[in-house]
Amino acid sequence: MVDVILGLQWGDEGKGKIVDYFAPQYDMVARFQGGPNAGHTLYVEDKKVVLHQIPSGIFHQHTVNLIGGGVVLDPVTLKRECDTVASFGIDVKKNLFISERTNIIVPTHRALDKASETSKGTDKIGSTLKGIGPAYMDKTGRNALRVGDLLDKSFTTSYIKLRLKHQRLLDNFHFNEDISSWEEEFFEALEFLRTLNVVNGEYFINNNISAGKKILAEGAQGSMLDIDFGTFPFVTSSNTISAGVCTGLGVAPQKIKEVIGVTKAYCTRVGGGPFPTELDDETGEKLRKIGSEFGATTGRPRRCGWIDLVALQYACMINGVTQVVMTKADVLDSFSELNCCTSYLVNGESKKEVPFQMSKLKIEPVYEAYKGWNTDTTALKNSEQLPSEINAYVDFINGFIGAPVKYISNGPGRDQIVKI
Ligand code: GDP
Ligand code: IMO
Ligand code: MG
Repeated sequence: MVDVILGLQWGDEGKGKIVDYFAPQYDMVARFQGGPNAGHTLYVEDKKVVLHQIPSGIFHQHTVNLIGGGVVLDPVTLKRECDTVASFGIDVKKNLFISERTNIIVPTHRALDKASETSKGTDKIGSTLKGIGPAYMDKTGRNALRVGDLLDKSFTTSYIKLRLKHQRLLDNFHFNEDISSWEEEFFEALEFLRTLNVVNGEYFINNNISAGKKILAEGAQGSMLDIDFGTFPFVTSSNTISAGVCTGLGVAPQKIKEVIGVTKAYCTRVGGGPFPTELDDETGEKLRKIGSEFGATTGRPRRCGWIDLVALQYACMINGVTQVVMTKADVLDSFSELNCCTSYLVNGESKKEVPFQMSKLKIEPVYEAYKGWNTDTTALKNSEQLPSEINAYVDFINGFIGAPVKYISNGPGRDQIVKI
């Protein structure tokens, strides 16, 4: 049986914290897509840790962690992260497993990401520049190197062939930065990767399912960044939605039970692209300041705005969300009025659906106002203590999106979460 935790907005919903919170109830946590573009923040022994490649169950001794075949893996980031995790006394050689099918991000993927973004000028996607797009292009283009290939004698020859292909592309972009130091650390990191547990991921996970183990699939990015269903072309290059669990881990659809969607109580986005409820004013600034809305991977300020229920309902629909976790409710503690976007005005017409090519339309959000709770909620422990205004806000959201909010997260700490 597999449950899923994934983001319902444009990423950074607090998935890392929520996976870490639920991990003790599971035998395995598995990442199914994305790569080091993810930045999942957890607090371990009151220390902040940001995970990019390793699943967020790693700090629980009894939990097995799997990097699935749908992930793109940067060996350099992985090595660095393993060192961080080891400093907490966690033995990655014992509880971290990597699928043979996981695609490897090579240094020239990062260079290509940079060259491609630079060439886009004002149409930049705002990529994290971690090589994600080029690595997935090599997967669908059937050129990629995978972790299982590391054991093959021809690995270096295949790598040189791939690098040559990339070099031709880079020449077309007139990219001439020296990336030799990237390559040096890449080869060092490959040596380390060879010492880790590499498994036949789909048998590994299905054998665990057959043995009755409980598995949690951890999404990266968010549904509105999905390559097929997000705000294309301002998206990432993988399927971030629940369907990605099947292709990214080799799990059949009927094995998926709960789909737990994570949303902030408001909304953020980092990078370019449409964001109908964005607040380019002091309210947006206040959200950014109180919510410390700066990217966990790139440090960029996140764009902030009100919760967008049109987009959230869409995300619940395409994911088959069965329950919702609402994070960062405490960030709204000092707001006397809140707004929820309940429809879009597009060319004067009211729309309740996410349109095709959002990026080409002028979308005006239509809001329903809600009274704020004006109380410090960060120390609340149970649902009876929740202010009535939070309950009203949540009831309205439940009705609109067609999935129940079951948890409210009221601070970044492990124990700051209220079950409704
Ligand atoms: P992820 O990518 O979805 O894992 O989210 P990030 O880690 O990129 O961003 C979420 C940020 O919000 C992190 O700094 C978390 O520590 C923080 N966070 C998570 N949940 C809460 C919450 O309920 N309240 C507050 N104030 N911060 C939270
Ligand atoms: P987590 O898992 C927020 C955004 C980038 C950019 C677009 C494409 O921490 O929620 P890419 O590097 O994938 O080519 O970038 O997607 N993006 C994220 N935004 N959280 C993330 O991950 C993101 N991963 C990618 O900012 O707009
Ligand atoms: Mg993040």
